[in-house]
Amino acid sequence: MTSRTSGRGLTVRGAALGDLEAIARVAEAAGQRGEWTGADPAYVGHLLRHGRVAVASHEDRVIGFGATRDIAGRGGVTSMLCDLFVDPAQHGHGCGRALLAELWPEPVAQRMTFSSRHPHALPLYTSVGLDAWWPLLYLAGDPSAVRSPAGWTVAPSSPEAVSRFEADWTGVDRGADHDAWTRRPNGTALVAALDGRPLAAGTAAGAGDDFGLVHLAPAPRLSDTQAGDSVLAVLAALESMDGHVRVCLPAPHPAVRPLLAAGWRATDLDLFMATRADLLDARRCVPSPALA
Ligand SMILES: CC(C)(COP(=O)(O)OP(=O)(O)OC[C@H]1O[C@@H](n2cnc3c(N)ncnc32)[C@H](O)[C@@H]1OP(=O)(O)O)[C@@H](O)C(=O)NCCC(=O)NCCS
Repeated sequence: MTSRTSGRGLTVRGAALGDLEAIARVAEAAGQRGEWTGADPAYVGHLLRHGRVAVASHEDRVIGFGATRDIAGRGGVTSMLCDLFVDPAQHGHGCGRALLAELWPEPVAQRMTFSSRHPHALPLYTSVGLDAWWPLLYLAGDPSAVRSPAGWTVAPSSPEAVSRFEADWTGVDRGADHDAWTRRPNGTALVAALDGRPLAAGTAAGAGDDFGLVHLAPAPRLSDTQAGDSVLAVLAALESMDGHVRVCLPAPHPAVRPLLAAGWRATDLDLFMATRADLLDARRCVPSPALA
């Protein structure tokens, strides 16, 4: 990765392990704290190994960072913007745009992100070719309030088996991500089967009340209704730490209405922004906001 200096004395370059502390400082200043955020060396280390991370400095001080990762998209590999954070004291001075120009230097057909609702985020992503398509809801609730649909069983598995299922179903190897997710606190790979046939596979993880379903891949032969049922079956099978677990779902996902009816709460939302609406299937995907 090259290093670029803008007219405002901003230098943008590829990040290295030696930047972890400075990246954590920016993440914490931007309100990102705790496990599997920019403040967590395990998370940023994973992005350094499997994606691209860039930092922006002003007068030799890191004031922003961003990261991309190639993921499975419908129709091929999609570049996902996983993180873009600028020190709040420096917002609105071109740092976010400079980081984005470093991470996405050329126009590419397939790009996406889960945008925050920060007022600078959506206009910035829109200006580089992404449109806002649907909200990704952060849902939390009591797993014992969720009724597992008839015929579904959920069993613990291994990251290798889960990524094999996902690769068979999507053609893309997410082995490194499942491996990293299962190494997180309470990380558990799992497979959901309907009448004994494995039809969804994923990973649950997270510390304390952040525990929840991180990512679930549906088999292509699942109907939308069955995709919803698979999520309900998995959530009903999760053992919560303190009476609630989490999952992020597209607002149009068939599991959303039953979860809200069961008393689950939407605690936040991001916006799925992408160069094409169909890069993710809003009726079927269960993506992690950081890595999809
Ligand atoms: C979102 C974020 C990364 C953007 O970085 P930034 O340095 O503040 O943004 P920039 O100054 O580079 O660019 C913002 C652009 O949005 C435009 N903009 C800002 N507010 C706007 C508004 N209300 N309407 C239209 N455009 C707006 C600015 O004019 C600028 O465009 P320009 O380069 O053409 O002038 C940064 O604000 C941030 O860290 N926010 C908090 C964390 C967060 O939510 N990150 C996003 C995670 S998805």
